[in-house]
Amino acid sequence: MAEIFQTVEQLIKDIETAQPDSIEAIEQFRIKYVGSKNIIKPLSKEIRNIPNEQRKDFGQLLNKAKKAAESKFQHLKDSLESGVEEAEGEELDLSAPPMPIPLGSRHPVSITMNRIIDIFSRIGFIVAEEREIEDDWHNFTAMNTPEDHPARDMQDTYYLKDSTSMLLRTHTSSVQARVMTTQKPPIRIIAPGRVYRNETISARSHCQFHQVEGLYIDKDVSFADLKQTLLYFAQEMYGAETKIRLRPSYFPFTEPSAEMDVSCFICDAKGCNVCKYTGWVEILGCGMVDPQVLENCGIDSKEYTGFAFGMGIERQAMMLYDINDIRLLFENDVRFLKQFQSAL
Ligand code: PHE
Repeated sequence: MAEIFQTVEQLIKDIETAQPDSIEAIEQFRIKYVGSKNIIKPLSKEIRNIPNEQRKDFGQLLNKAKKAAESKFQHLKDSLESGVEEAEGEELDLSAPPMPIPLGSRHPVSITMNRIIDIFSRIGFIVAEEREIEDDWHNFTAMNTPEDHPARDMQDTYYLKDSTSMLLRTHTSSVQARVMTTQKPPIRIIAPGRVYRNETISARSHCQFHQVEGLYIDKDVSFADLKQTLLYFAQEMYGAETKIRLRPSYFPFTEPSAEMDVSCFICDAKGCNVCKYTGWVEILGCGMVDPQVLENCGIDSKEYTGFAFGMGIERQAMMLYDINDIRLLFENDVRFLKQFQSAL
């Protein structure tokens, strides 16, 4: 007799431990344990072979099996209906390594610009950022560029549609005028940003590029201060052995004006195609702020003097990273961009 009890007991165990994991398997479970032809039902016929005193126990055990099957099936049905999330949740492997997140990298122009900003901020220059859409006065007039100056020519400057005074700034020198008209000396700023010129796009020039402007105004600022500041910059940027040379030049807003070359860091000034076999590479334009520019912007030129410089970023980035076509810097091809990594 114990045998039939064991059979039912085993059945209950089977029901409780069953783990049907698909819709088909749950259906099989239903047919086997709860359907109209389930395997529990016929067991009740066995009751006649059981001694009277054990019939009650057997009946209860059978009932237990029936209840176990029904509640298990109900539970399986509920979890199916409660949605896909739970079904998916069951398959989630929490120990699996995560999908790699592709990391971006900084643009070579940003890396170069940040290096320049970092170098000047170490000697007290503060970043000043200004608008790219400028008016004629800040971009030209205040900077001593008279109305008939060729730099204003429609072929060089992008004017806004139907406007003769609003334009895309052609240099970051417009920030000099913005700062001088709103701040009192001492002024010591660097102004990084995008500039625009109507130029034919080629491997060497583009209609948009970046500059960093520097401006220092205080009492008794001299050309020697300018030279020392630029020497410090060149050696921080291109190495402690770097030499600089200043060549006389002309800009409407500085007097005297100069262009600065650094000794070619690619060939150690021995001569290569970057320095065109001269040993020198031109990096920036600079000079003492023309007293007229100070006056234009409301600064007393008898009390104050200053120096200014402006440098292009793209050309320096191209030299630093050996890039031979400026257009690569504006095409945003990820295969090109992902080669650059920097902490700055
Ligand atoms: N604005 C000049 C240029 O775009 C550079 C410059 C800035 C020169 C400041 C002198 C002083 O070429």
